[in-house]
Amino acid sequence: MDQATVTPHAGQSHELRIAPSILSADFARLADEMAELADTVETLHVDVMDGHYVPNLTIGPPVVKSIRAATDRFLDCHLMIADPRTYAPQFIDAGADSVTFHPEVEDDPRELIERLHEQGAQVGVAVRPHQPLSLVEELLRDIDLLLVMTVQPGFGGQAFMDDVVPKIAEAHRWRVDHGARFRLQVDGGITTDTIAETVRAGADTFVAGNAIYGKADRIEATTTLLEVAREARGSTD
Ligand code: DX5
Ligand code: ZN
Repeated sequence: MDQATVTPHAGQSHELRIAPSILSADFARLADEMAELADTVETLHVDVMDGHYVPNLTIGPPVVKSIRAATDRFLDCHLMIADPRTYAPQFIDAGADSVTFHPEVEDDPRELIERLHEQGAQVGVAVRPHQPLSLVEELLRDIDLLLVMTVQPGFGGQAFMDDVVPKIAEAHRWRVDHGARFRLQVDGGITTDTIAETVRAGADTFVAGNAIYGKADRIEATTTLLEVAREARGSTD
């Protein structure tokens, strides 16, 4: 990542980004569902679930490979899986630009981050709603993205948990204090009603499934989310 674009003491170092979660899209029409937003977003969020780490099953590397062939958007793969050491490399091989894993399932998450970086991908770690930031603190210098979950992982369309907001602020404060460069992503229940408080806490990257793919006009839904976020930050970047 280009360190020169980061202004660690500015408090808000990354431009705001909406990352539509294709979990809420129509999987039979995935290419069209992604193409509809191709001119509106840089990033698409791909939720991978293995039926072990979470009680739901979604997609594997062959589908990511097909997605990769169908879109040039940045593919942010959120791996809700019990064995990222085995499978994260396969998602990178399939075309993921970034892989985010839940580190409590790994004996040596730092080594895995390093290994995945060597493969050429960006790497994130995720914290569940009731996990403390201290769980990942020693990894924060090594990652490109911190995903703070604002619902329990497993399903789209759940209600935002606002008791997570102080942890978002804590993560942002850590980032500013340490001059770290990771993106701060929130995921789960993000809507026009909830996005602003995450922006004010310091989030810069917003996963939204139902709030986009649940709407008839996905471009308008995405643009509106971004406008609300920008207003909350008080700038037009
Ligand atoms: C939940 C997933 C989320 C989910 C978000 O386990 O990680 O990315 O798709 O969906 P909404 O925005 O509908 O809560
Ligand atoms: Zn996700």
